[in-house]
Amino acid sequence: MESTTPSQTDAQESLKMKIVVLGATGQTGQYLVSQALEHGHTVTAIVRNPGKITIRNDKLKVVEADIFAADSLKVHFKGQDVIVSCLGFPASFISGVTGYTTSMSAVVSAMREVRVNRVITMTSWYTEPDSGTQASYLIRFLLLPMIRSVLSNMYEMETFLKNNNDISWTVVRPPGLKNQPASAKEFLTHRGYFVSDSSGNPTGSTMGRGDVARFMLTLLNSNTWVKKGVAITTI
Ligand SMILES: NC(=O)c1ccc[n+]([C@@H]2O[C@H](COP(=O)([O-])OP(=O)(O)OC[C@H]3O[C@@H](n4cnc5c(N)ncnc54)[C@H](OP(=O)(O)O)[C@@H]3O)[C@@H](O)[C@H]2O)c1
Repeated sequence: MESTTPSQTDAQESLKMKIVVLGATGQTGQYLVSQALEHGHTVTAIVRNPGKITIRNDKLKVVEADIFAADSLKVHFKGQDVIVSCLGFPASFISGVTGYTTSMSAVVSAMREVRVNRVITMTSWYTEPDSGTQASYLIRFLLLPMIRSVLSNMYEMETFLKNNNDISWTVVRPPGLKNQPASAKEFLTHRGYFVSDSSGNPTGSTMGRGDVARFMLTLLNSNTWVKKGVAITTI
C-alpha cells in the first residue's frame, strides 16, 4: 500500500473535458458516464447497442462504432481529450480471450491518427501470472484459474501499453467488483498487482463499481499514474 488518492471533490473540481467512454453500457461504464456528466464533462459513449443507454443529457452523445477497428473509432476520437475504457470480455477456456488487446490496439492506432494522447483503462488485481500467490486459498485455486483467460489477455494489453510509451496511458486494477454507487470512501493505491496490508497480504478484496469510476475520473486531473498501472481498493 503506498498512498491515498484525491477525493470525489477533487474530481468534481477538475477541468471540464471531452471524454470518450468505451464500455459505456457496462456496469462500471454506466457509473462512469453518469459521474462524468455530473462533473460537467462532455461524454461521447461508443457502444454497439445504443438502446442500452438510458441516460439523457445534452452533454452526452451516443454513437455506434466498432471497438476493434481504428478507422471506425478515429472519427469519434477526433478533438477529444481522453479515452476511458470500461470494456469487459467473458472468460473462455476454449478459444481464450483477445478482446482487450485487439480493442486497445485499435484504440491506440486511432488515437495516434487523430492526435489524442491520454487513455485510461481498467483491468484487475492479479493480472501478472505470479501475483496471486498471497491471495486466499479460494481466490488462488478457484477464482483465478476460472478467469485466467481474461487476466492473461488483460496482462497482454498492459504489456502492449507499456511498449507504446508515446501514449499517456493508465491501467487501473480494481479487486472484485460489487454493483454499488460511488461512496465517499478513501482509496488505497499500490503500484502493483494488488493492494496489500503491512504484512504483504491482500487487503480490501472487493469494491464498488461506482468507486472504480470515481477513481478513474480523478485521474483526469492528475499526472500521478500516467504510464503506470495502479492497483486500487477502498477503505
Ligand atoms: N467482475 C469482477 O469482479 C471484476 C473485477 C475486476 C475487474 N473486472 C473487469 O472490469 C471491467 C468492467 O467490468 P464490468 O463488470 O463493469 O463490465 P460489464 O458490465 O461486463 O461491461 C462490459 C462492457 O464491454 C462492452 N463490450 C463487450 N464486448 C464488446 C464488443 N465486442 N463491442 C463493444 N462493446 C463490447 C459491453 O457492451 P454491451 O453492453 O453491448 O454488452 C459492456 O459495455 C471488465 O474488464 C472486467 O473483467 C471485473
